[in-house]
Amino acid sequence: MKLWGGRFTKPTNELVDEYTASISFDQKLATYDILGSLAHVNMLAAAGIIEADERDQIAEGLKKVDQLIKDNKNVLTAENEDIHMNVEKLLIDEIGSVGGKLHTGRSRNDQIALDMRLYLRDQVVTLVDLLSKLQTALLNQAKAHTETVLPGYTHLQRAQPVLFAHHLLSYVFMLQRDVERLMDSFKRINKSPLGAGALAGTSFPIDRDYVKDALNFYAITENSLDSVSDRDFVVEFLSGASLIMMHLSRFSEELVQWSSQEFNFVELDDAFCTGSSMMPQKKNPDVPELVRGKTGRVYGHLLGLLTTLKGLPLAYNKDMQEDKEGMFDTVETLVGALSLFSPMVETMTVNKEVMYEAVVKDYSNATDLADYLVTKGVTFREAHAVVGEAVLSCIESKKYLLDLSLTEFKAFSDVIDEDIFKVLDPMAVVNARKAKGGTAKESVQWQFKQADNYLNDT
Ligand code: ARG
Repeated sequence: MKLWGGRFTKPTNELVDEYTASISFDQKLATYDILGSLAHVNMLAAAGIIEADERDQIAEGLKKVDQLIKDNKNVLTAENEDIHMNVEKLLIDEIGSVGGKLHTGRSRNDQIALDMRLYLRDQVVTLVDLLSKLQTALLNQAKAHTETVLPGYTHLQRAQPVLFAHHLLSYVFMLQRDVERLMDSFKRINKSPLGAGALAGTSFPIDRDYVKDALNFYAITENSLDSVSDRDFVVEFLSGASLIMMHLSRFSEELVQWSSQEFNFVELDDAFCTGSSMMPQKKNPDVPELVRGKTGRVYGHLLGLLTTLKGLPLAYNKDMQEDKEGMFDTVETLVGALSLFSPMVETMTVNKEVMYEAVVKDYSNATDLADYLVTKGVTFREAHAVVGEAVLSCIESKKYLLDLSLTEFKAFSDVIDEDIFKVLDPMAVVNARKAKGGTAKESVQWQFKQADNYLNDT
């Protein structure tokens, strides 16, 4: 007999059981469901709604059920639909009809909202920790590369040289926004919806603040209809997760490019690459490729849930059961990607000489020649045109700017002096950009301080 079987005259069609059941995936919430039930049952006794000995029996029984589920997932059945009814059924099997008092003053609608919040709260803490570890890995690599110069790109064309430390730091600050977004969403996850009942509240003299305190929530939700229909906190999580994946995906794309023979800027450690079943020479950057690839499924979960929710009237609708698989998959995808990224970044080899070569054999110091002319009184527009001609002529004669003699320089502009050779040196070009946020060593040191402060705060 179903827990809700009273008003029915027939058993449920077996396919309907399978179709409507969520137990195959919401079993991940078992421990949180039981945690919530323990708080609820303690509250019921404290409020005088059940007796102390009933509370003790139920609490004992719940702990046994928790162990039962941990030991053998087969005790969970689709016939009992979801984690809430499976737990209640097992509890009643375990301690008899007193177990039937557990659900007093509660509905599965406020219960699932509670379970999801308890679950996500833990996941956010884990993810913030993993993000901080990746930030630390990036910072350590950056600190080892304050002398390494590589071309900075726009339009994937060499633009101006930057320190490799500067490039890596950009990801540290990107991930910092991800950390902050998760921590901000935590405020809205961290409210207790229990007590909203099915939708309208409950006629029992429950104490919502008791449950809130017992489960370490920062507040209770304010409106029962909103409490059971709200999945904003899941959407926010998926949206924050999508940005994290987008950041990891962009970094992945750079790693894939950089580890190609064409760039050869870095080499990923063998432990983080895979081979080809046919071509013996291959070493493929599967990890960043797969992180880039898995970004799609996380975006999909965000769009999926937004779409599921958009037409729903208040309050709970069964559609909302679709909120879970995408959330679980997103958590697992993020944990997988972040756990691999930190050691992959820590162990990658940086080919400094190749990076430097790409700077030297190029015209990425052209802006500095133009800026130099400006300091000698030429207007920037005029300087831009002169340097453009100089670059064109160098390309034609297969030379770089630093290959020109002073006489050749003077042919383009007679304000150019001997000091131009120092100005156009790659490290000088980098160090000229010393305003805060720029790529000069001085500014990079300042960025390290900012990053260290952020990391000490999280
Ligand atoms: N399994 C349901 C879900 O995940 C729990 C809430 C069900 N409530 C109901 N009245 N059917 O959304």
